[in-house]
Amino acid sequence: MKYILFLILANSLFCESTFITPMEYASSLYKNPRGIGCQKCHGENGEGLLIAKYIHKGKEKEFIGPQINNISFEKFANELSKRKRGMPRYFLTDSEVQALYRYLHRNDKKSEKKN
Ligand code: HEC
Repeated sequence: MKYILFLILANSLFCESTFITPMEYASSLYKNPRGIGCQKCHGENGEGLLIAKYIHKGKEKEFIGPQINNISFEKFANELSKRKRGMPRYFLTDSEVQALYRYLHRNDKKSEKKN
């Protein structure tokens, strides 16, 4: 019991002095949304990932999380609101979708960011 109290206290002390930046927020959203993390299927930076290979009707098939750091914001937002084959549905808010998109483009050249 004492241990638990200590943890709660330590946690609240820690949280009070911690402000997360918008990019830290976006990073945690990408890696830990309400469900399975995007990086598990799309790679750490949205570069795309081969998730599994399998044989279907005698043919080798690949289950791939496509690259998602090279598409427009319109397409990104639009695709996320659709039901997709092989991808969980997240029901993200507009600002969450924006944060995720910003996260995936955090290393883009400065000149491309101005919009
Ligand atoms: C279980 C694996 C999995 C997870 C987790 C996952 N995706 Fe996907 N995603 C896929 C697959 C597979 C497709 C391709 C679906 C298709 O072709 O119909 C896809 C497609 C997409 C597309 C459309 C890409 C395009 O060019 O059409 C976007 C955008 C996307 N995912 C974003 C995300 C984001 C953001 C997250 C986290 C919130 C996420 N995905 C989590 C498997 C996943």
